[in-house]
Amino acid sequence: MEAGNKIYDLHLFVCTNVREKPKTGCADFGSIDLHAALKQEFKSRKLTAKIRINKAGCLDMCKNGPVMVLYPEGKWFYNVKTEDLPKIIDEIVSRVS
Ligand code: FES
Repeated sequence: MEAGNKIYDLHLFVCTNVREKPKTGCADFGSIDLHAALKQEFKSRKLTAKIRINKAGCLDMCKNGPVMVLYPEGKWFYNVKTEDLPKIIDEIVSRVS
């Protein structure tokens, strides 16, 4: 069943998966804090009507974590660090401005 018109221009999925030890997942590399920082930044820029930041389960790119993927482009971000966020945010914002 269709749900209607497009609601968001972009979805950013941030893997916050916790893997069973001894394996490591994105949460072990700080993705939960990255997700929270992204949510806060997009909210402060009042862009939450256009851009949805979602937590995601494992995206099957664990060795590259923390991992994010932006849709509809399907652009991946690997090994994301807090200091990478301003550049990533600016890039995403430029697509909906
Ligand atoms: S735990 Fe993040 S991609 Fe698998």
